[in-house]
Amino acid sequence: MFPPIVAAVSRVVDPGDIEVLFGSHQDPDIISSLALWLGMCGNSSVYVPAIRTSFVAHFSLGAPIEGIPDEGGVMPLGTSRDLTFVPAHYVHSSANFSLYDPLAKVLFCGDVGAALLPPDQFEVTVTDFDAHTRFMEGFHRRWIPSQGAKDDWIRRVSALDIEMLCPQHGALFEGENVARFLQWFSDLEVGSAV
Ligand SMILES: [Fe+2]
Ligand SMILES: [Fe+2]
Repeated sequence: MFPPIVAAVSRVVDPGDIEVLFGSHQDPDIISSLALWLGMCGNSSVYVPAIRTSFVAHFSLGAPIEGIPDEGGVMPLGTSRDLTFVPAHYVHSSANFSLYDPLAKVLFCGDVGAALLPPDQFEVTVTDFDAHTRFMEGFHRRWIPSQGAKDDWIRRVSALDIEMLCPQHGALFEGENVARFLQWFSDLEVGSAV
């Protein structure tokens, strides 16, 4: 996925100007191209969950890695605005963070809200929430192992002012679909693969 993502990012910002990289967790579809990003972004900082820094060091080419403490915190961006690391442990990785932009009112929620869409049903933003749930259900039941962790994440996220939920796979939730998703996720029984 690296070439098309770099091409898309380059339409908005020069990759050489990127100063901070964030890995919500250590999965290959999140951060296995870290060395390639570091090659393009120069001396950028890398933030990943603290307990995963020793894993990510295997593919960071020796670049220093900032460990995000379990309780979360703030990504300082200096002149523009700070972003918030929202703890999302066990939804799904055992160390995981969502990232909140308080100015744009956007929550980047990683694998939470992910949908496995058939190629012919691709859309950028969810248009029919009820129809969309069938592409999310199996994924969330299998990949979110803990009801308690799920409830904790929903409680944290419900306290934020969110206009757009942006999962890593599938489609984005906008407007009233944000609350719809949180309710759907709250009602879903997860961790049911055994
Ligand atoms: Fe993942
Ligand atoms: Fe993923």
